[in-house]
Amino acid sequence: MRVLVVGSGAREHALCLGLAADPSVTALVCAPGNAGTGAVAEQRGVDATDPVAVTALAQDVRADLVVIGPEAPLVAGVADAVRAAGIACFGPSGEAARLEGSKAFAKDVMAAAGVPTAAARVCSTAEEAEAALDEFGPPYVVKDDGLAAGKGVIVTDDRAAALEHAVACGRVVIEEYLDGPEVSLFCVTDGDAVVPLLPAQDFKRIGDGDTGPNTGGMGAYAPLPWLPDGLVDDVLATVARPTVAEMARRGMPFSGLLYVGLALTARGPRVVEFNARFGDPETQVVLALLETPLAGLLSAAATGALANHPPLRWREGAAVTVVVAADGYPGPPRTGDVLTGADQTGVVHAGTRRREDGAVVSTGGRVVSVTAVGADLAAARDRAYDLVERVHLPGGQFRRDIALAAVEGRVRVPGLP
Ligand code: AMP
Ligand code: GLY
Repeated sequence: MRVLVVGSGAREHALCLGLAADPSVTALVCAPGNAGTGAVAEQRGVDATDPVAVTALAQDVRADLVVIGPEAPLVAGVADAVRAAGIACFGPSGEAARLEGSKAFAKDVMAAAGVPTAAARVCSTAEEAEAALDEFGPPYVVKDDGLAAGKGVIVTDDRAAALEHAVACGRVVIEEYLDGPEVSLFCVTDGDAVVPLLPAQDFKRIGDGDTGPNTGGMGAYAPLPWLPDGLVDDVLATVARPTVAEMARRGMPFSGLLYVGLALTARGPRVVEFNARFGDPETQVVLALLETPLAGLLSAAATGALANHPPLRWREGAAVTVVVAADGYPGPPRTGDVLTGADQTGVVHAGTRRREDGAVVSTGGRVVSVTAVGADLAAARDRAYDLVERVHLPGGQFRRDIALAAVEGRVRVPGLP
Protein backbone atom coordinates (compact mmCIF):
# COMPACT_ATOMS: atom_id res chain seq x y z
CA MET A 1 0.00 0.00 0.00
CA ARG A 2 1.27 3.47 -0.96
CA VAL A 3 0.39 6.08 1.68
CA LEU A 4 0.45 9.89 1.59
CA VAL A 5 0.32 11.72 4.94
CA VAL A 6 -0.73 15.37 4.75
CA GLY A 7 0.46 17.81 7.41
CA SER A 8 3.62 18.94 9.14
CA GLY A 9 3.26 18.56 12.90
CA ALA A 10 4.15 16.06 15.61
CA ARG A 11 0.96 14.16 14.89
CA GLU A 12 2.05 13.63 11.29
CA HIS A 13 5.53 12.54 12.38
CA ALA A 14 3.98 10.06 14.83
CA LEU A 15 1.62 8.81 12.09
CA CYS A 16 4.58 8.39 9.72
CA LEU A 17 6.49 6.40 12.35
CA GLY A 18 3.49 4.13 12.84
CA LEU A 19 2.85 3.70 9.13
CA ALA A 20 6.52 3.05 8.36
CA ALA A 21 6.42 0.17 10.85
CA ASP A 22 3.50 -1.48 9.03
CA PRO A 23 4.87 -4.11 6.61
CA SER A 24 1.97 -3.54 4.21
CA VAL A 25 3.24 0.00 3.50
CA THR A 26 5.47 -0.11 0.42
CA ALA A 27 5.85 3.65 -0.04
CA LEU A 28 5.36 6.52 2.41
CA VAL A 29 5.20 10.18 1.43
CA CYS A 30 4.65 13.13 3.77
CA ALA A 31 3.69 16.60 2.59
CA PRO A 32 4.77 19.18 3.52
CA GLY A 33 6.30 17.41 6.56
CA ASN A 34 9.08 18.53 8.88
CA ALA A 35 12.67 17.58 9.71
CA GLY A 36 11.44 14.43 11.49
CA THR A 37 9.11 13.10 8.81
CA GLY A 38 11.90 13.61 6.26
CA ALA A 39 13.82 10.83 7.99
CA VAL A 40 11.05 8.20 7.54
CA ALA A 41 9.09 9.36 4.50
CA GLU A 42 9.65 10.89 1.10
CA GLN A 43 9.11 14.61 1.52
CA ARG A 44 6.98 16.62 -0.93
CA GLY A 45 5.94 20.25 -0.84
CA VAL A 46 2.22 21.09 -0.91
CA ASP A 47 -0.25 23.63 0.40
CA ALA A 48 -2.04 21.20 2.71
CA THR A 49 -5.28 23.22 2.65
CA ASP A 50 -5.55 23.25 -1.16
CA PRO A 51 -7.88 20.40 -2.22
CA VAL A 52 -6.74 20.51 -5.86
CA ALA A 53 -3.04 20.50 -5.00
CA VAL A 54 -3.32 17.66 -2.48
CA THR A 55 -5.35 15.55 -4.91
CA ALA A 56 -2.82 16.15 -7.69
CA LEU A 57 -0.01 15.12 -5.36
CA ALA A 58 -1.90 11.97 -4.30
CA GLN A 59 -2.27 11.04 -7.97
CA ASP A 60 1.35 11.88 -8.70
CA VAL A 61 2.66 9.59 -5.94
CA ARG A 62 0.03 6.94 -6.86
CA ALA A 63 -1.30 6.88 -3.30
CA ASP A 64 -3.65 4.06 -2.33
CA LEU A 65 -4.47 5.85 0.93
CA VAL A 66 -4.27 9.52 1.92
CA VAL A 67 -4.19 10.32 5.64
CA ILE A 68 -5.07 13.92 6.46
CA GLY A 69 -3.55 15.02 9.76
CA PRO A 70 -4.67 18.55 10.68
CA GLU A 71 -8.11 20.12 10.96
CA ALA A 72 -7.62 23.01 8.53
CA PRO A 73 -7.36 20.81 5.37
CA LEU A 74 -10.32 18.74 6.56
CA VAL A 75 -12.49 21.80 7.07
CA ALA A 76 -11.29 23.06 3.65
CA GLY A 77 -12.68 19.91 2.00
CA VAL A 78 -9.41 18.20 1.11
CA ALA A 79 -10.77 14.74 1.97
CA ASP A 80 -13.79 15.33 -0.30
CA ALA A 81 -11.51 16.18 -3.24
CA VAL A 82 -9.24 13.18 -2.70
CA ARG A 83 -12.20 10.79 -2.48
CA ALA A 84 -13.81 12.37 -5.54
CA ALA A 85 -10.65 11.38 -7.44
CA GLY A 86 -11.26 7.76 -6.40
CA ILE A 87 -8.52 7.56 -3.77
CA ALA A 88 -9.25 6.20 -0.28
CA CYS A 89 -8.88 8.91 2.34
CA PHE A 90 -8.68 8.82 6.13
CA GLY A 91 -10.45 11.94 7.35
CA PRO A 92 -13.97 13.38 7.35
CA SER A 93 -15.59 15.51 4.67
CA GLY A 94 -15.50 19.28 5.05
CA GLU A 95 -19.11 19.22 6.15
CA ALA A 96 -18.52 16.55 8.80
CA ALA A 97 -15.32 18.23 10.02
CA ARG A 98 -17.53 21.06 11.30
CA LEU A 99 -17.84 18.90 14.42
CA GLU A 100 -14.47 20.50 15.16
CA GLY A 101 -14.66 23.57 12.94
CA SER A 102 -17.71 25.06 14.65
CA LYS A 103 -18.31 24.74 18.38
CA ALA A 104 -21.94 25.82 17.82
CA PHE A 105 -22.48 23.04 15.23
CA ALA A 106 -20.96 20.48 17.59
CA LYS A 107 -23.32 21.57 20.37
CA ASP A 108 -26.27 21.22 18.01
CA VAL A 109 -25.25 17.66 17.03
CA MET A 110 -24.74 16.73 20.67
CA ALA A 111 -28.15 18.09 21.63
CA ALA A 112 -29.81 16.11 18.82
CA ALA A 113 -27.92 12.93 19.74
CA GLY A 114 -28.52 13.28 23.48
CA VAL A 115 -24.78 13.43 24.20
CA PRO A 116 -23.86 14.75 27.66
CA THR A 117 -21.94 18.03 27.46
CA ALA A 118 -21.73 21.40 29.20
CA ALA A 119 -24.84 23.57 28.93
CA ALA A 120 -23.95 26.38 26.52
CA ARG A 121 -25.18 29.56 24.83
CA VAL A 122 -24.08 30.81 21.42
CA CYS A 123 -23.49 34.60 21.67
CA SER A 124 -22.82 37.18 18.96
CA THR A 125 -23.17 40.45 20.90
CA ALA A 126 -21.75 41.86 24.12
CA GLU A 127 -25.25 41.88 25.63
CA GLU A 128 -25.77 38.19 24.88
CA ALA A 129 -22.31 37.37 26.23
CA GLU A 130 -22.96 39.28 29.48
CA ALA A 131 -26.25 37.48 29.98
CA ALA A 132 -24.61 34.06 29.44
CA LEU A 133 -21.67 34.86 31.74
CA ASP A 134 -24.10 35.81 34.51
CA GLU A 135 -26.31 32.80 33.88
CA PHE A 136 -23.44 30.33 34.38
CA GLY A 137 -21.27 32.34 36.81
CA PRO A 138 -17.54 31.82 37.42
CA PRO A 139 -15.27 30.16 36.42
CA TYR A 140 -16.23 31.56 33.01
CA VAL A 141 -15.64 29.45 29.88
CA VAL A 142 -15.62 31.38 26.58
CA LYS A 143 -14.85 29.64 23.27
CA ASP A 144 -14.24 31.17 19.87
CA ASP A 145 -16.76 29.51 17.53
CA GLY A 146 -14.19 28.86 14.78
CA LEU A 147 -10.90 26.96 14.50
CA ALA A 148 -8.24 28.39 16.82
CA ALA A 149 -5.60 25.65 17.21
CA GLY A 150 -6.62 24.98 20.82
CA LYS A 151 -6.04 28.59 21.80
CA GLY A 152 -9.50 30.11 21.25
CA VAL A 153 -10.74 29.10 24.69
CA ILE A 154 -10.35 30.98 27.92
CA VAL A 155 -11.31 29.74 31.35
CA THR A 156 -11.13 32.51 33.93
CA ASP A 157 -12.67 33.93 37.10
CA ASP A 158 -12.23 37.42 35.69
CA ARG A 159 -15.58 38.49 34.22
CA ALA A 160 -14.09 41.50 32.42
CA ALA A 161 -11.45 39.31 30.72
CA ALA A 162 -14.11 36.78 29.73
CA LEU A 163 -16.26 39.51 28.21
CA GLU A 164 -13.29 41.04 26.41
CA HIS A 165 -12.46 37.65 24.81
CA ALA A 166 -16.09 37.21 23.76
CA VAL A 167 -16.21 40.62 22.11
CA ALA A 168 -12.81 40.13 20.42
CA CYS A 169 -13.91 36.77 18.91
CA GLY A 170 -17.28 37.97 17.64
CA ARG A 171 -19.29 34.74 17.75
CA VAL A 172 -18.58 32.61 20.81
CA VAL A 173 -19.92 29.71 22.81
CA ILE A 174 -20.17 30.47 26.53
CA GLU A 175 -20.72 27.44 28.70
CA GLU A 176 -20.94 25.97 32.14
CA TYR A 177 -17.62 25.08 33.80
CA LEU A 178 -16.91 21.34 33.96
CA ASP A 179 -14.99 20.23 37.02
CA GLY A 180 -13.00 17.00 36.83
CA PRO A 181 -10.00 15.36 35.15
CA GLU A 182 -9.88 15.45 31.36
CA VAL A 183 -9.65 12.40 29.11
CA SER A 184 -9.00 12.25 25.37
CA LEU A 185 -10.59 9.22 23.74
CA PHE A 186 -9.74 8.73 20.07
CA CYS A 187 -12.35 6.78 18.12
CA VAL A 188 -11.59 5.45 14.64
CA THR A 189 -14.76 5.28 12.57
CA ASP A 190 -15.83 4.56 9.00
CA GLY A 191 -19.08 6.44 9.51
CA ASP A 192 -20.80 3.40 10.98
CA ALA A 193 -18.54 1.14 13.09
CA VAL A 194 -16.56 2.80 15.90
CA VAL A 195 -13.28 1.47 17.35
CA PRO A 196 -11.84 3.22 20.44
CA LEU A 197 -8.10 3.64 20.95
CA LEU A 198 -6.48 3.84 24.40
CA PRO A 199 -7.65 6.78 26.52
CA ALA A 200 -4.96 9.41 27.08
CA GLN A 201 -4.58 12.61 29.03
CA ASP A 202 -3.27 15.89 27.65
CA PHE A 203 -1.88 18.89 29.59
CA LYS A 204 -3.37 22.05 28.12
CA ARG A 205 -1.82 24.81 30.21
CA ILE A 206 1.68 26.11 29.60
CA GLY A 207 2.82 25.98 33.24
CA ASP A 208 3.44 23.31 35.87
CA GLY A 209 0.42 22.67 38.09
CA ASP A 210 -1.94 23.66 35.24
CA THR A 211 -1.10 27.36 35.46
CA GLY A 212 -0.88 30.02 32.74
CA PRO A 213 -2.62 30.22 29.38
CA ASN A 214 -3.99 27.34 27.29
CA THR A 215 -1.78 25.84 24.59
CA GLY A 216 -2.24 23.22 21.90
CA GLY A 217 -1.03 20.65 24.51
CA MET A 218 2.23 20.40 26.46
CA GLY A 219 2.45 16.66 27.13
CA ALA A 220 0.44 13.47 27.40
CA TYR A 221 0.39 9.96 28.78
CA ALA A 222 -1.49 6.72 28.25
CA PRO A 223 -3.06 4.58 29.52
CA LEU A 224 -4.82 6.23 32.50
CA PRO A 225 -4.38 4.11 35.64
CA TRP A 226 -7.04 6.07 37.52
CA LEU A 227 -9.78 5.66 34.92
CA PRO A 228 -13.05 4.20 36.32
CA ASP A 229 -13.85 0.70 35.01
CA GLY A 230 -16.19 0.68 32.07
CA LEU A 231 -15.56 4.32 31.17
CA VAL A 232 -14.55 3.58 27.57
CA ASP A 233 -17.65 1.44 26.95
CA ASP A 234 -19.79 4.10 28.59
CA VAL A 235 -18.37 6.85 26.34
CA LEU A 236 -18.79 4.66 23.26
CA ALA A 237 -22.44 4.06 24.13
CA THR A 238 -23.37 7.58 25.25
CA VAL A 239 -21.10 9.76 23.08
CA ALA A 240 -19.21 8.25 20.15
CA ARG A 241 -21.83 5.93 18.65
CA PRO A 242 -24.76 8.38 19.01
CA THR A 243 -22.66 11.17 17.46
CA VAL A 244 -21.57 9.05 14.50
CA ALA A 245 -25.19 7.88 14.05
CA GLU A 246 -26.51 11.46 14.20
CA MET A 247 -24.00 12.58 11.55
CA ALA A 248 -25.09 9.72 9.28
CA ARG A 249 -28.73 10.62 9.89
CA ARG A 250 -27.97 14.18 8.76
CA GLY A 251 -26.52 12.85 5.51
CA MET A 252 -23.00 13.94 6.45
CA PRO A 253 -21.35 10.70 7.60
CA PHE A 254 -18.28 11.24 9.76
CA SER A 255 -15.39 8.93 8.90
CA GLY A 256 -11.83 9.20 10.17
CA LEU A 257 -10.89 10.04 13.73
CA LEU A 258 -13.46 11.33 16.17
CA TYR A 259 -11.50 12.85 19.04
CA VAL A 260 -13.71 12.91 22.11
CA GLY A 261 -12.41 15.35 24.73
CA LEU A 262 -14.14 14.65 28.05
CA ALA A 263 -14.25 15.94 31.59
CA LEU A 264 -15.08 13.32 34.21
CA THR A 265 -17.41 15.26 36.46
CA ALA A 266 -19.33 14.20 39.56
CA ARG A 267 -22.37 13.84 37.28
CA GLY A 268 -20.51 11.56 34.87
CA PRO A 269 -18.47 12.10 31.71
CA ARG A 270 -19.25 15.30 29.79
CA VAL A 271 -17.93 16.23 26.34
CA VAL A 272 -15.62 19.25 26.45
CA GLU A 273 -14.90 19.22 22.72
CA PHE A 274 -14.85 17.15 19.57
CA ASN A 275 -11.98 17.22 17.14
CA ALA A 276 -12.10 15.71 13.68
CA ARG A 277 -8.54 14.36 13.69
CA PHE A 278 -5.88 12.78 15.85
CA GLY A 279 -4.89 15.03 18.78
CA ASP A 280 -1.43 16.32 19.43
CA PRO A 281 0.33 15.33 21.72
CA GLU A 282 -1.92 12.39 22.66
CA THR A 283 -1.26 10.70 19.30
CA GLN A 284 2.40 10.29 20.19
CA VAL A 285 1.59 8.17 23.26
CA VAL A 286 -1.38 6.27 21.86
CA LEU A 287 0.43 5.20 18.68
CA ALA A 288 3.57 4.34 20.65
CA LEU A 289 1.50 1.62 22.36
CA LEU A 290 -0.45 0.35 19.33
CA GLU A 291 0.78 -3.02 18.06
CA THR A 292 -1.88 -3.50 15.38
CA PRO A 293 -0.54 -2.37 11.98
CA LEU A 294 -1.62 1.25 11.55
CA ALA A 295 -2.10 1.39 7.77
CA GLY A 296 -4.50 -1.56 7.92
CA LEU A 297 -6.60 0.17 10.58
CA LEU A 298 -6.74 3.55 8.83
CA SER A 299 -7.40 1.91 5.49
CA ALA A 300 -10.31 -0.09 6.95
CA ALA A 301 -11.82 3.15 8.24
CA ALA A 302 -11.28 4.89 4.90
CA THR A 303 -12.93 2.09 2.91
CA GLY A 304 -15.94 1.34 5.12
CA ALA A 305 -14.50 -1.99 6.26
CA LEU A 306 -13.98 -1.26 9.95
CA ALA A 307 -16.60 -3.76 11.13
CA ASN A 308 -14.41 -6.54 9.73
CA HIS A 309 -11.17 -5.28 11.26
CA PRO A 310 -9.65 -7.54 13.94
CA PRO A 311 -9.62 -6.31 17.57
CA LEU A 312 -6.75 -3.94 18.34
CA ARG A 313 -3.64 -5.18 20.10
CA TRP A 314 -1.74 -2.97 22.57
CA ARG A 315 1.68 -3.36 24.05
CA GLU A 316 2.01 -3.70 27.81
CA GLY A 317 3.17 -0.71 29.81
CA ALA A 318 2.72 3.01 29.33
CA ALA A 319 3.91 5.93 27.24
CA VAL A 320 4.68 9.55 28.14
CA THR A 321 5.43 12.50 25.88
CA VAL A 322 6.79 15.90 26.91
CA VAL A 323 6.50 18.84 24.52
CA VAL A 324 9.41 21.24 24.13
CA ALA A 325 8.03 24.61 23.04
CA ALA A 326 9.76 27.71 21.77
CA ASP A 327 10.42 30.82 23.80
CA GLY A 328 7.30 32.99 23.74
CA TYR A 329 4.80 30.15 23.16
CA PRO A 330 1.75 30.18 23.37
CA GLY A 331 2.24 33.78 22.28
CA PRO A 332 4.20 34.48 19.09
CA PRO A 333 7.11 32.03 19.30
CA ARG A 334 10.75 32.76 18.61
CA THR A 335 11.81 30.68 15.58
CA GLY A 336 15.08 29.98 13.77
CA ASP A 337 16.90 28.42 16.74
CA VAL A 338 19.13 25.41 16.13
CA LEU A 339 18.14 22.30 18.11
CA THR A 340 20.61 19.69 19.22
CA GLY A 341 19.72 16.09 20.03
CA ALA A 342 16.62 16.19 17.84
CA ASP A 343 17.59 13.17 15.73
CA GLN A 344 17.42 10.71 18.65
CA THR A 345 14.86 7.92 18.68
CA GLY A 346 11.79 9.10 20.59
CA VAL A 347 12.04 12.74 19.50
CA VAL A 348 8.88 13.48 17.53
CA HIS A 349 9.17 16.65 15.46
CA ALA A 350 6.54 19.39 15.24
CA GLY A 351 7.79 22.83 14.23
CA THR A 352 11.14 21.93 12.70
CA ARG A 353 12.88 22.04 9.36
CA ARG A 354 16.22 20.71 8.24
CA ARG A 355 18.70 23.27 7.00
CA GLU A 356 20.96 22.50 4.05
CA ASP A 357 23.88 21.84 6.42
CA GLY A 358 21.76 19.18 8.17
CA ALA A 359 21.00 21.23 11.28
CA VAL A 360 17.45 21.07 12.70
CA VAL A 361 15.94 24.56 13.09
CA SER A 362 12.78 25.57 14.99
CA THR A 363 9.90 26.89 12.90
CA GLY A 364 6.93 27.04 15.28
CA GLY A 365 5.55 27.18 18.80
CA ARG A 366 5.61 23.51 19.73
CA VAL A 367 8.96 22.34 18.38
CA VAL A 368 9.40 18.68 19.37
CA SER A 369 7.74 16.24 21.74
CA VAL A 370 9.90 13.67 23.42
CA THR A 371 8.19 10.30 23.71
CA ALA A 372 9.13 7.21 25.71
CA VAL A 373 7.52 3.91 26.65
CA GLY A 374 8.17 1.91 29.80
CA ALA A 375 6.95 -1.07 31.78
CA ASP A 376 4.75 1.29 33.78
CA LEU A 377 3.92 4.97 33.87
CA ALA A 378 6.72 5.85 36.27
CA ALA A 379 9.31 4.15 34.05
CA ALA A 380 7.97 5.77 30.89
CA ARG A 381 8.01 9.15 32.62
CA ASP A 382 11.59 8.76 33.82
CA ARG A 383 12.70 7.83 30.31
CA ALA A 384 10.89 10.73 28.69
CA TYR A 385 12.47 13.21 31.11
CA ASP A 386 15.93 11.65 30.64
CA LEU A 387 15.53 12.15 26.91
CA VAL A 388 14.27 15.74 27.31
CA GLU A 389 17.54 16.58 29.04
CA ARG A 390 19.38 15.40 25.94
CA VAL A 391 17.46 17.66 23.56
CA HIS A 392 18.46 21.30 23.60
CA LEU A 393 16.49 24.24 22.22
CA PRO A 394 17.72 27.72 23.16
CA GLY A 395 14.93 29.40 25.16
CA GLY A 396 12.93 26.14 25.08
CA GLN A 397 10.22 25.53 27.66
CA PHE A 398 8.70 22.29 28.86
CA ARG A 399 6.52 21.21 31.77
CA ARG A 400 8.15 19.17 34.51
CA ASP A 401 4.95 17.58 35.81
CA ILE A 402 3.60 15.60 32.84
CA ALA A 403 2.00 12.40 34.23
CA LEU A 404 3.31 13.19 37.71
CA ALA A 405 -0.05 13.31 39.52
CA ALA A 406 -1.01 9.98 37.91
CA VAL A 407 2.29 8.34 38.93
CA GLU A 408 1.76 9.60 42.48
CA GLY A 409 -1.87 8.42 42.56
CA ARG A 410 -3.18 11.96 43.00
CA VAL A 411 -5.74 12.09 40.15
CA ARG A 412 -9.26 12.07 41.58
CA VAL A 413 -12.54 11.75 39.75
CA PRO A 414 -15.16 13.83 41.64
CA GLY A 415 -17.75 11.64 43.29
CA LEU A 416 -15.47 8.58 43.42
CA PRO A 417 -13.39 7.60 46.48
P1 AMP B 1 -11.48 23.12 23.86
O1 AMP B 1 -10.77 23.81 22.73
O2 AMP B 1 -12.96 23.20 23.80
O3 AMP B 1 -10.95 21.75 24.09
O4 AMP B 1 -11.00 23.83 25.20
C1 AMP B 1 -9.64 23.87 25.54
C2 AMP B 1 -9.47 23.55 27.00
O5 AMP B 1 -10.20 24.48 27.80
C3 AMP B 1 -10.00 22.19 27.41
O6 AMP B 1 -9.12 21.15 27.17
C4 AMP B 1 -10.25 22.42 28.89
O7 AMP B 1 -9.04 22.32 29.61
C5 AMP B 1 -10.73 23.82 28.94
N1 AMP B 1 -12.19 23.82 28.88
C6 AMP B 1 -12.97 23.88 27.77
N2 AMP B 1 -14.27 23.82 28.08
C7 AMP B 1 -14.35 23.74 29.42
C8 AMP B 1 -15.44 23.68 30.36
N3 AMP B 1 -16.72 23.72 29.97
N4 AMP B 1 -15.13 23.58 31.66
C9 AMP B 1 -13.85 23.55 32.07
N5 AMP B 1 -12.78 23.64 31.26
C10 AMP B 1 -13.02 23.73 29.93
N1 GLY C 1 -4.40 17.76 22.32
C1 GLY C 1 -5.39 18.68 21.94
C2 GLY C 1 -5.65 18.75 20.51
O1 GLY C 1 -5.06 18.07 19.71
O2 GLY C 1 -6.51 19.54 20.16
